[in-house]
Amino acid sequence: MIPLSSPDITEAEIAAVTAVLRTPQLCMGPELDAFEKAMAEYHSVPHAVAVSSGTAGLQMALLTLAIGAGHEVIVPSFAFIAVANAVAQVGATPVFADVDELTLNLTPESVKKVITPRTRAIIAVHTFGIPADMIGLRELASAHNLVIIEDACEAIGAKIGDKRAGAFGDLSIFGFYPNKQITTGEGGAVLAHSQIHAQRLEQLRNQGRARQPHPANSPDLPGTWDIGFNYRLSDIACALGRVQLQRIDEILSKRRQAAERYHRLLEGINAIELPPIALPGIEISWFVYVIRLGVGVDRTRLRECLAADGVATATYFEPIHQQPAWSRFNRQPMPVAESVGPRTLALPFFTRITEEEQQEVATSLRQALLQR
Ligand SMILES: Cc1ncc(COP(=O)(O)O)c(C=O)c1O
Repeated sequence: MIPLSSPDITEAEIAAVTAVLRTPQLCMGPELDAFEKAMAEYHSVPHAVAVSSGTAGLQMALLTLAIGAGHEVIVPSFAFIAVANAVAQVGATPVFADVDELTLNLTPESVKKVITPRTRAIIAVHTFGIPADMIGLRELASAHNLVIIEDACEAIGAKIGDKRAGAFGDLSIFGFYPNKQITTGEGGAVLAHSQIHAQRLEQLRNQGRARQPHPANSPDLPGTWDIGFNYRLSDIACALGRVQLQRIDEILSKRRQAAERYHRLLEGINAIELPPIALPGIEISWFVYVIRLGVGVDRTRLRECLAADGVATATYFEPIHQQPAWSRFNRQPMPVAESVGPRTLALPFFTRITEEEQQEVATSLRQALLQR
């Protein structure tokens, strides 16, 4: 079987993890500090707080920005379901907005349509590693006094101009599940621009306890910051993440090459649309390779044919507002999300995918499309 995704772990990662296992400190130790420092430096943002998952990061970011009951948070309808779940988990209401046909991201226009007096925040997701229009969204947010949580879980290393994704939000979230560009097994991180936000995040991560005593002149933390979670990330995971981050240029370049290869192999097939391979002013960080099927192609049947050839596929994403947990809350049509959602097909895509494997996928896809 050619898997859908697969982490790229070298002897360097194995050595770093093993080294931690030989120490007495498996959590809250030097690897946590080192990973956080490396994340902050890579993004040219002053603070990074490592957490147990991207979802935990989203929840903590919302709480840090004092978002809760009575507040609305605008999220894309076409995205991973965690963005809506996290909003509900802090007691706020997710409000869905449609996405751009090409980038599959929120746009200032789509967000503007759903702003109400209760709106407090926008969760801007860089879906599939293509950066959203953070400049336009920031202008809109400023005009309406909203904060932006930048969800860069799928886009580590992507760029808008010369700034990396994750540098634009009031707080920004990363996720390191094993299908991501870099992994910690499970894990995530939140980037923050101010020390007070970083401290709040550290407290929330660790049952409300401060990591170190607050400087005497720091303001009292408002609300219920003393009620926290256990959202810590172990030093074992951080060691893995630190070495993965050291290798990120190599990883992203191989993924770009793999995307370009798919582009060449699949170009010209009538019944499918390929993802944009390059867009002006931005650098894509290749997370997944998702094609769109032409109207009328039976996706289930196609996936069965591919699976019979040993090619794993997935369907990303069913629009959140149409999924069972959420469909009862939203009555607004989302034409782009609803049109694209049923037509997506994610092909095997990972850092070490070989040219032969990609050729096999392309051949199998061509044949499956003929058989349909
Ligand atoms: C855009 C986005 N946000 C949030 C998450 C949640 O991250 P995690 O699975 O680490 O909780 C993901 C995970 O895939 C994601 O893609």
